[in-house]
Formats: sequence, structure tokens, C-alpha cells
Amino acid sequence: MFNIEKFDIKLDTELIGRSFILCDEVDSTNTYLMKDKNITLNGTVILAERQTKGKGRLARTWFSGKGLNLTFSVLLNRKKLFKNPGLTNLTTAVSLGTAIENLYQLKTELKWPNDVLINQKKVAGILIESAIQGPAISKMVIGIGMNVNQAVFHGEFRIEPTSIRNELGQNVEREKFLSEFFNIYEEYLETSIKKPEFILKEWRERCRMMGESITVTHGKGVKYGIFEDIDERGSLILRLKTRKEKIHFGDVSVS
Ligand code: BTN
Repeated sequence: MFNIEKFDIKLDTELIGRSFILCDEVDSTNTYLMKDKNITLNGTVILAERQTKGKGRLARTWFSGKGLNLTFSVLLNRKKLFKNPGLTNLTTAVSLGTAIENLYQLKTELKWPNDVLINQKKVAGILIESAIQGPAISKMVIGIGMNVNQAVFHGEFRIEPTSIRNELGQNVEREKFLSEFFNIYEEYLETSIKKPEFILKEWRERCRMMGESITVTHGKGVKYGIFEDIDERGSLILRLKTRKEKIHFGDVSVS
């Protein structure tokens, strides 16, 4: 079972992870935070050892072996972040990549919009959901599924999965990773408000698809072009034959 004391001792944040809900089983940590109107404290975290209806991007399912990985969600209530959820998406991916590199010296790669890869295999995914009140966002829930100690993955996957354990050849402490991630995340969320170009630079440095011919799929739509860049809102800029187009949703692969 996840050990709160081990986690807490290395946590160096002001807000993120200071309010912590640990569950044995829940449908989805994202759904939990989205539904519960009484949880409003910025930085509240819910972590579940098992999700019965874990959600992935684009209405997919997220599977994770019980007690092996990290499946958790963070409530963000900072209004300044609501102005640019796409950038928060990139900030989350950059923070995960940095924490992995700091602790395990494994090189990470980021795949638009927010997959974290090691050796071209997916180690973590991010699902951001937001609640809207009137014309504005009233809260954001950042859901993260990180494969830590799972050795075997069953099923069919769009991108082959991996875990820290599989890449490193040994199990690692989930608590240590989570506190390292939150320490970086809290700092980088502030940076995304004050110095967004730093986050964009860190993201670009880890993205190997930039400049490549790519295929973008969303539902039944398919587009082909060159991955030119990302903009300050985290959208992908796709260079077509005669013009450029901004892509906000979808999956990308090298053509
Ligand atoms: C993706 O890559 O498709 C995103 C996966 C996000 C999974 C996490 S696990 C914790 C949180 N709760 C959910 O139901 N989903 C996210």
C-alpha cells in the first residue's frame, strides 16, 4: 500500500499534495474530484491503488495494475492557470519528464499533446478535465497515470507501454517519485504563469517529432503535414502544402 509518511517526508510544496486522499479503490480519481463539490482546496490530490473505470484521453480506458503504479488526480484552483489549460497540459508533461530524469537518469521524450515516453514506449499519460461555470473555467482536474512498477502489460495499445521498472531493471519507490514530481510541478506551474516560454522550451527540447512529416487523426478525420511547432497555448502547428493549421485535439504519429 502507498505509504503516506514516506511520501510526506520528501514533499517540499506549499499546496500540492498537502491535502491528500488515499483510496484503495475508486471508479476514476478524475471523476471523484470532478464530482465532489466540497473539495475546493487548490492542490488537493486523490490517489487510488485501483481504478475500476480509469479514463484515458479521447474517451479511451486507462488500465493499471493494482498497487503497482501511480494513478492520481490533482485539483487546480488557481485562476491564472485557467486562462491557458493547453499550457498546463505541457507543464504537466514537462514536470513528469523532469522528475523521471532527475531520479532515474532515464531520458524522456514528449509526444504531443502530453504522452511521456521512454525509449519510444509510453510511461505516463495525462487527462485534464475542467468544470465550467457560466463562461469561465471554475476548476481543473489533472489526472495522471504513471507506470512505475508494472512488469507486464496485457491488451492492445496505440503506443507500446513501459514502466520505470522495465526501463531501469528494478522496482522503485512510488512515494519518492510522487513527492519529487509534486516539488517540481508546483514550481513549474508558477513558471508557466510568469515565464511560459521556459515551459515551451523544455517541451520542445523533449519532442522528437518536430520538423517531421506526421499524420494527425481525430475521430474519423485524418490530416497529413509537417509538425512545425507548438504555439503558446499548446496547440500543434501543422504545416500543410499552402497554409498552416492549428490542431487542438487528436493523436499524432510519424508518417
Ligand atoms: C491518456 O494517456 O490517455 C491519459 C491517461 C490518464 C490516466 C489517469 S489515471 C488517474 C486519472 N484518473 C483517470 O480516470 N484518468 C487519469
